[in-house]
Amino acid sequence: MWGGRFADGPSAVMREINASIPFDKRLWRQDLAGSKAHARMLKAQGIIAADDADAILAGLDAIERDYAAGGLVEDMALEDIHMHVEARLAEIVGPAAGRLHTARSRNDQVATDFRLWVRDSIDAIDEGLRAFQQALLARADDHAATIMPGFTHLQVAQPVTLGHHLMAYYEMAKRDRSRFADARARMNECPLGAAALAGTSFPLDREATAKALGFDRPTANSLDSVSDRDFALEFLSAAAMTGLHLSRLAEEIIIWASQPYGFVSLPDAFSTGSSIMPQKRNPDAAELVRGHSGRLLGAFQALAVTMKGLPLAYSKDMQDDKEPAFQAYDTLALCLAAMTGMVSTLSFNADRMRAAAAGGFSTATDLADWLVRVAGVPFREAHHITGRAVKAAEAAGTGLAELPIASLRAIDARIDARVYDVLSVEASVASRTSHGGTAPDGVRARIAAARDELERGR
Ligand code: ARG
Repeated sequence: MWGGRFADGPSAVMREINASIPFDKRLWRQDLAGSKAHARMLKAQGIIAADDADAILAGLDAIERDYAAGGLVEDMALEDIHMHVEARLAEIVGPAAGRLHTARSRNDQVATDFRLWVRDSIDAIDEGLRAFQQALLARADDHAATIMPGFTHLQVAQPVTLGHHLMAYYEMAKRDRSRFADARARMNECPLGAAALAGTSFPLDREATAKALGFDRPTANSLDSVSDRDFALEFLSAAAMTGLHLSRLAEEIIIWASQPYGFVSLPDAFSTGSSIMPQKRNPDAAELVRGHSGRLLGAFQALAVTMKGLPLAYSKDMQDDKEPAFQAYDTLALCLAAMTGMVSTLSFNADRMRAAAAGGFSTATDLADWLVRVAGVPFREAHHITGRAVKAAEAAGTGLAELPIASLRAIDARIDARVYDVLSVEASVASRTSHGGTAPDGVRARIAAARDELERGR
């Protein structure tokens, strides 16, 4: 297709390094959609004859049926998906096929195909994230008042509710969806018609092709159109961030499922056994989600490093944009499905969680707050008094709520029996009524609002 000025064909190695068909065949639907939009516009503008355009369009339909039915036969000599389609079109419609590439280059063609693919992928990932959010909401609703330890430094800090903890991941997923949506809105401009780099002398209607392909408008600068891969990088960056969030949840599930914690048990459907230790039930799916997040971060890195040194406009390095994006999409879609499945089917051991929440003097802050609120003690002093109470409980081998009033009063006479009202884990979580706090009523209100958000589509 470009051999006019060459005496010899490429070497086998040249063919191999040059070919992208093994992976870019995945763009066949987008490539056909772009070609059809281009052919219709060429016809409408009188750039090619109507009968040639009709033959081309019928040929493209035939190729679509072929590929949908039987896939595509790879030919390394035909480099990429664009040349495969064009070569097949020539077989079907003869010389008229050669008119399709008028006022177009593979540079604007691939930029268009890839944008279409990224756009579809964003939509599919958004669906996956929504399903994940729904799974979190359902479990959070069941456990809006289930008490578990809240941690900082992985040390028991204050009691929280499991519903609140799960809803933290809902909020992360919400931000992830909004990042994908932002990327989608920004990338929805059509590069088709930029041609090789400079635009074209033919009287194109770029508005028409943009509209036909569902873009908001044509891109504004032909050089930028063929050299920009921001849209893929933004997709990969949002994917990496989503993977990072899934990995954090996976890490928690792994910790919670270990015997010393015993907060959750994984269903058979999401665990594996050991070939030597018959008692084992391993959280492999969670571990793989945690592991795969590294590959998602790597995909962003791979393309960012590929792009960073490229002068305008197109360079062949950019052919390497596709594999990271394809791999990231496949990986993320699988990780989302696995996490959604795990969240939906985990069983939570509420007794173990509550017992752990009651340990570690987790209501010490409640005692200090009580001293401030009821006894009028300045917080710093209350902090100190509470520290002494913790020390006394530790020495007595009890929790704060089990310390006799005499011991508490020996530390500070301003304490009286009303303090026991705030020392239980139930009282502690119920009192956290500040906006965004862990009180079960607040958690239920947030769940209801979140359901509403999901109904309304965001
Ligand atoms: N297969 C190429 C890619 O993916 C298509 C663009 C090729 N353009 C060119 N001038 N060689 O980037």
